Amino acid sequence: MPMFPQTRPRRLRLSKAIRDLVAETSISVNDLIMPIFVKDDIENPEPIDAMPGYYRYPVKDVVKIVGEALEHGIKAFLLFGVPKPEKKDHTGTPAYDPNGPVPQAIRLIRKEFGWEPLIFTDVCICGYTSHGHCGIPVEKHGRTLIDNDSTLDVIAKMAVVHAEAGADFVAPSGMMDGMVAAIREALDEEGYSEVGIMSYAIKYASGFYGPFREAADSAPRFGDRRSYQMDPRNAMEALKEALLDIEEGADILMVKPALAYLDVIRLIKENYPHYPLAAYNVSGEYSMVKAAAEKGWIDEKLVTFEILTAIKRAGADIIITYHAMDVAKWLREGYSPF
Ligand code: PBG
Repeated sequence: MPMFPQTRPRRLRLSKAIRDLVAETSISVNDLIMPIFVKDDIENPEPIDAMPGYYRYPVKDVVKIVGEALEHGIKAFLLFGVPKPEKKDHTGTPAYDPNGPVPQAIRLIRKEFGWEPLIFTDVCICGYTSHGHCGIPVEKHGRTLIDNDSTLDVIAKMAVVHAEAGADFVAPSGMMDGMVAAIREALDEEGYSEVGIMSYAIKYASGFYGPFREAADSAPRFGDRRSYQMDPRNAMEALKEALLDIEEGADILMVKPALAYLDVIRLIKENYPHYPLAAYNVSGEYSMVKAAAEKGWIDEKLVTFEILTAIKRAGADIIITYHAMDVAKWLREGYSPF
């Protein structure tokens, strides 16, 4: 009989050292990307009701939060901009304003910390349009359509503005066809060939984004996103989405949401093992844990680690999570869940 712990049932309490030694997966701060919401018309951090413990920060405070995270060992950040509501328009012009909240925040972070933090930026127009869609709606043949190709021009400009401000990676999240190629071409043309692309290649039309839409004020004002985001009933289609983005030049692929799509994470990792894979542990997944923990129904630390571990075990190399700072703090306190 092998000596592995699982085969020795007579030992009721297995030594933690043995379990740690043979564990296949572990979570460290090196795996995590912390999302940050930046808003340009507020003085103080604004709590997000649907995301307990999470805030929208004024541009000037971003340095503080990044500094705290860096101190806890978190090195990667994903910035989302929340522009003034009156600036939003039909085509999402404020998305490529060099003085918008995201470019301003990047410049401040670079001034304070140089190139130490790794900065990813969300590239999508939904937070910048008056209608809240990720593409530009047009009236055509008596119907409202999302005009894929004119949207590409806007997101390419947005990516270049973020690169100019000092982003390391841009992360297109709008699920427009050809977005990775359009961004790659624009970045290269403008001399930013060193800026990478983390593509939300596989993004499902999900109910788990609810709290985020409150945070970023980006809910669609009419219709829904089912014409451009993926159908939760499909897994094989994810292979096609991944392949297209790889061919267009994506450096990192992403599956989103994470928890209800662990099979998809595994499918992508098995088929494209040579590509770094990120998974987005989205707002709804975060808020459910926080809400149940507030009620005392679950052990927050244990459940959080269990979820992140499951996402990694499924095949993700990188996890984007609102739990990042909590996890970093708990790890520093010596918390070890399993
Ligand atoms: C915008 C975008 C969304 C998220 C990230 N970028 C929302 C959406 O598609 O409606 C969701 C993130 C989350 O829920 O945490 N395109």
